[in-house]
Amino acid sequence: MILRDIEARDASALVELYPHWGNQLARRRIERTMLFRGERRIVAEISGKTIAHVKIDYGSGVHSHIARIYSLIVAKEHRGKGIARALLEKAINEMPAGIEIVTLETQADNAPARSLFEKLGFEEYGFLENAWKKGNEYKDNVLYKKVLR
Ligand SMILES: CC(C)(COP(=O)(O)OP(=O)(O)OC[C@H]1O[C@@H](n2cnc3c(N)ncnc32)[C@H](O)[C@@H]1OP(=O)(O)O)[C@@H](O)C(=O)NCCC(=O)NCCS
Repeated sequence: MILRDIEARDASALVELYPHWGNQLARRRIERTMLFRGERRIVAEISGKTIAHVKIDYGSGVHSHIARIYSLIVAKEHRGKGIARALLEKAINEMPAGIEIVTLETQADNAPARSLFEKLGFEEYGFLENAWKKGNEYKDNVLYKKVLR
């Protein structure tokens, strides 16, 4: 497995991971990441195929000591092999100097993600009721932080 920064050629793989993005949006997101120093996307590649993704947003101004992790996903057929753990460890180990706090969140009923985050030392610091809404259905989010220094 190779872990590397995202490249333009990852667009179609990103659409497989996030079908609702569509090719154009995936490309725009990748281009923005490649041009803009405020964010990073790391992907995992196996046998030439991009099979996992995570995004890191670096804060600015009075938030420049905080990074937020989003959009962690591993293709279904590659789950349970330590790929998400490896992606997050790389993201955390390679945080720019000056990042003191890393945050992320997930739906309260996402047991795999919560277990992963807690194993990596993230602590729950909040709970947002009804953070997610689709039609009449709501879901809560658990908010996590990890203090680096
Ligand atoms: C959550 C997700 C990213 C985990 O990816 P993964 O590569 O399968 O995870 P890993 O193999 O690195 O597992 C690391 C830890 O996560 C937890 N975990 C992973 N799959 C799990 C499962 N099915 N049930 C319970 N815990 C699980 C375990 O604590 C595991 O540690 P262990 O190997 O010591 O048991 C993956 O299931 C996924 O893409 N889900 C859909 C998208 C999503 O929920 N993203 C995160 C929310 S923002």
